Amino acid sequence: MNAAITSIGIYAPEKRIDNSYFEKIIETNDEWIRQRTGIQNRYYARADEFTSDLCVKAIENLLESNHTDISDVDFIIVATSTPDHTMPSVASQVQARMNIKKAGCMDVSAACAGFVYGIILAKGLIASGANKKVLVIGAETLSKVMNFEDRTSCILFGDGAGAVIVEASETNYIFRSITETDGGLGQNLYLSNQPATINGEAIINDNKIHQNGRAVFKWAVSTLVEKIKNLVDLNQKTLKGIDWLIPHSANLRILEAVCEGLNFPKEQCLESVKLYGNTSAASIPIAWYNGLRSGKVRIDDTIILAGFGGGLTFSSICVQNRISLRG
Ligand code: COA
Repeated sequence: MNAAITSIGIYAPEKRIDNSYFEKIIETNDEWIRQRTGIQNRYYARADEFTSDLCVKAIENLLESNHTDISDVDFIIVATSTPDHTMPSVASQVQARMNIKKAGCMDVSAACAGFVYGIILAKGLIASGANKKVLVIGAETLSKVMNFEDRTSCILFGDGAGAVIVEASETNYIFRSITETDGGLGQNLYLSNQPATINGEAIINDNKIHQNGRAVFKWAVSTLVEKIKNLVDLNQKTLKGIDWLIPHSANLRILEAVCEGLNFPKEQCLESVKLYGNTSAASIPIAWYNGLRSGKVRIDDTIILAGFGGGLTFSSICVQNRISLRG
């Protein structure tokens, strides 16, 4: 059974946080943040607003932005590192709130690579004949798990959500994927409340994000350059045949270094980090949606989606765009 991604919607909370916010709470400045990360803004959820709330808003936007119906969705996947609860899953909360009658539900824990993992799983469910219409959502409320005393990390992250529908289609528009993980580097980016170690290294178990920014940066650039080349080969394409690259928007400098490493035009790399910060599992659908809204991304464009993050894990897939947004 073939599959296509047919609709998309996004949401960011109302509270916009620009870089001057951090000048008041840590030793930093707008120029440093822009130069090192490209970030100008991010959005934070209210205290009473959780990841499932952002998912619902993204689905409402999907319904407004596309001619579609979700009552026949038969599986819901939510990729997130910041679920409302460990259980029930965010996906099952979404099922109840959107009144989707019969849907299998699960959350995916693959950090910033989670959205692409969700697409790969959805494609597999459809290809196997098990399901016909899968809602895949990447959503985060990272502002709830940030250490606002750590200037190397708190400036980076933001909250947001992006939802897509993956459904059975006559022609195939979702091509081959590569997923790989360097679990031995997991201690470089984590969020834990357990008094335990990762790979034998002591961790801080305060339920906040901790990272070795330099190590993650280096790993991300070299991994993306190598694996994206592999993915292009696997799909029997060349980089010239790729219209858009949408990597996880962690840091603009990572994206620029990847484009340089691939000799791929920066103008064809879509990002969401400048205006939303690093929204982890939500960053790729947000960049895609805005690429569609601005008229850059067109029907049948070939796109590479590439996620990377905590794990350290990597996921990538080549797709053909079948989404055209309403008005
Ligand atoms: N404001 C001002 N100075 C800061 C700062 C901030 N917000 N954060 C760090 N600095 C300082 C450091 O303390 C250091 O000062 P020193 O030289 O006096 O010791 C200096 O800036 C350089 O620090 P360094 O860590 O080398 O900076 P960097 O260029 O690597 O940028 C990150 C730091 C975190 C922005 C960068 O490493 C990064 O983005 N890494 C990837 C992180 C990521 O994307 N994680 C999620 C992946 S999904």
